[in-house]
Amino acid sequence: MKILVIGQGGREHTLVWKLVQSQRVEKIYCAPGNAGIAQIAEIIPMPDRFTDLADWAESQNIGLTIVGPENPLAEGIVDIFQEHGLKAFGPNKRAARLEASKDFAKQLMAKNGIPTAAHRTFTDIEKAMAYIEDHNAPVFVKADGLAAGKGVIPGRTFKEALQAVTTILVDKAFGDAGDSVVIEEELIGEEASFTVLTDGTYCLPFVTSQDHKMSHDGDTGKNTGGMGAYSPAPVITPELHNDVMQRIVYPTVNGMADIGRPFKGVLYVGLMITDAGPKVVEFNCRFGDPEAQVLFPRLKSDLVPLLIACIDETLEQHAADVQWHDEAAACVVMASGGYPDPYETGEIITGLGDAAAIEGVTVFHAGTKHDGENIVTAGGRVLGVTAVADGLHEAIQQAYRGVSAIHFDKAHARSDIGYRALEKL
Ligand code: AMP
Ligand code: GLY
Repeated sequence: MKILVIGQGGREHTLVWKLVQSQRVEKIYCAPGNAGIAQIAEIIPMPDRFTDLADWAESQNIGLTIVGPENPLAEGIVDIFQEHGLKAFGPNKRAARLEASKDFAKQLMAKNGIPTAAHRTFTDIEKAMAYIEDHNAPVFVKADGLAAGKGVIPGRTFKEALQAVTTILVDKAFGDAGDSVVIEEELIGEEASFTVLTDGTYCLPFVTSQDHKMSHDGDTGKNTGGMGAYSPAPVITPELHNDVMQRIVYPTVNGMADIGRPFKGVLYVGLMITDAGPKVVEFNCRFGDPEAQVLFPRLKSDLVPLLIACIDETLEQHAADVQWHDEAAACVVMASGGYPDPYETGEIITGLGDAAAIEGVTVFHAGTKHDGENIVTAGGRVLGVTAVADGLHEAIQQAYRGVSAIHFDKAHARSDIGYRALEKL
């Protein structure tokens, strides 16, 4: 089968890396890809219009298209591929609303009794400010729409909360995504990422993982797309796992079906494990990045039949056969200095081969591109240096050996990925 992967980050490099190992895959294309993906798949340009890509996919007899990021899903790429009679993995536009509007997600949770932070949604600045005046900080202030993981501003003080509302509703720091603002109470606890595949009815949980969203050590600094990840996440005990499936995952998937928006694809639930049990921080409608970098290396089974089963609504028949490696995985992101604020690109990257030669290490590319003979930086998150080893401690150690072998000017990596998990072991 020929496969098309859409996206250009570390998540997509890991997806392509996993797909290359499948007996069923004859050829992989990726649009628009990056320098790492170019080593194992054929890169094609990303056209402006989804219909042009679907026409191309039809002409090439592409058997499966996998959409990596949330934006094309929210814009309806799956719908367009379906109209062309093509199989595309991911929710359609109506279902992708679960990630594309935080207010929509909050309403779905309220309707279905799914535990989450108390909240209110506002479009009016005066009303939002009055609400903050009536409630104590800290609160979390969120742009309703998609903002590349950066639309959440913690309001730790009254002043910060007011400033956050102004940034979103008045300054329009996230454009139309900030036409409305969700203000919610702070949840206290430890976070975990819970990933399931679903065909709209049956839900197949992946092994657990956890990312580090803040830019600097000790979970300080600014919110980023994710500076590293590890799997398993020991905070999710078997009892909690069961609780999340029964009280969060199934009510969400059933709730979407009930309102005529059946959800097929990846449901990624961002959880806070509070004293009162697990609560939803956010829903995403695609694999996490960098969580994908630690999930796929642990998946022993072929991914292709599972993704197709989500589309064909036959996931339950495959569930019993899914196998995972017992080893742990850790991923350390190397970012451009300054990220998530503005940063420079075009820095030459060296040592990629040396890192890959270290036992258990695979280097997934995110913001990279070819420049003549060199591979250079081309984005905020540049590489995801990933290692698989018998235990989490060893996996983290090997990933950091990989990081030490790689160089580019002003590279920044956190030095404490996995620290919360290590405290538990
Ligand atoms: P989100 O994009 O909604 O996942 O938010 C980004 C990050 O902000 C989350 O991963 C949490 O670390 C933090 N966050 C968001 N909402 C809350 C909340 N209600 N309480 C505590 N932390 C939150
Ligand atoms: N790592 C967080 C995300 O993918 O949204």
